[in-house]
Amino acid sequence: MIDDNPKNLKRSDVLVVYASKYGTTKRYAQWIAESLSTEAFDLKRFSIGLLQSCSTVIFGSSVHIGKIKNVNFIKKNWELLSDKQIIVFASTGNPKITTKDQAVLKASLPSSISQNIHYFPLPGAYDYHKLDFTDKFLMNFGPMRNLRIKALIRGDEKAKEQLAALHQAVDWTNKEAITPILTFN
Ligand SMILES: Cc1cc2nc3c(=O)[nH]c(=O)nc-3n(C[C@H](O)[C@H](O)[C@H](O)COP(=O)(O)O)c2cc1C
Repeated sequence: MIDDNPKNLKRSDVLVVYASKYGTTKRYAQWIAESLSTEAFDLKRFSIGLLQSCSTVIFGSSVHIGKIKNVNFIKKNWELLSDKQIIVFASTGNPKITTKDQAVLKASLPSSISQNIHYFPLPGAYDYHKLDFTDKFLMNFGPMRNLRIKALIRGDEKAKEQLAALHQAVDWTNKEAITPILTFN
């Protein structure tokens, strides 16, 4: 159940900013913003003035090859962000991800910054056929490469199944996943 009136985040003070290539993170950012009766800003529309009147920043992005994308936003503006409450959420390709999985945060930012951030990884979505050229290339020469070798050369049945699964569209996004962010103290 979504708490439409979260007590722990003061909605007028919250700035929601997101970067989303395929729309998953945007969906989450909009759900969060709606629940807080505020607006979600695409990072492309971000201007430094938006940071002036907020005490909490919720920044959303996605996980890409083991790191949170666009964290440069945080690094570049850390001087202004460091005295605020910073919540980062990221869409992932893991349907079973939990907030205990903090490794990606640590891999994405220096510890001087990451230790001051509250990180919420969320189940995202993935559709191989909608990926752009670069992402298809990365998938083919990353996770799919070894599976293809196992499946095609060694005839490994499990690898064949995993390879087929990577060609399927999946969407694990769900509104309930944002509850820990809204009720975060
Ligand atoms: C090339 C590529 C690499 C990815 N790497 C990871 C990864 O390392 N870990 C992970 O959990 N998800 C990974 N993902 C899945 C994305 O995080 C997921 O698709 C996310 O929902 C995309 O967000 P967006 O729709 O806002 O762009 C990857 C996706 C692509 C296309």
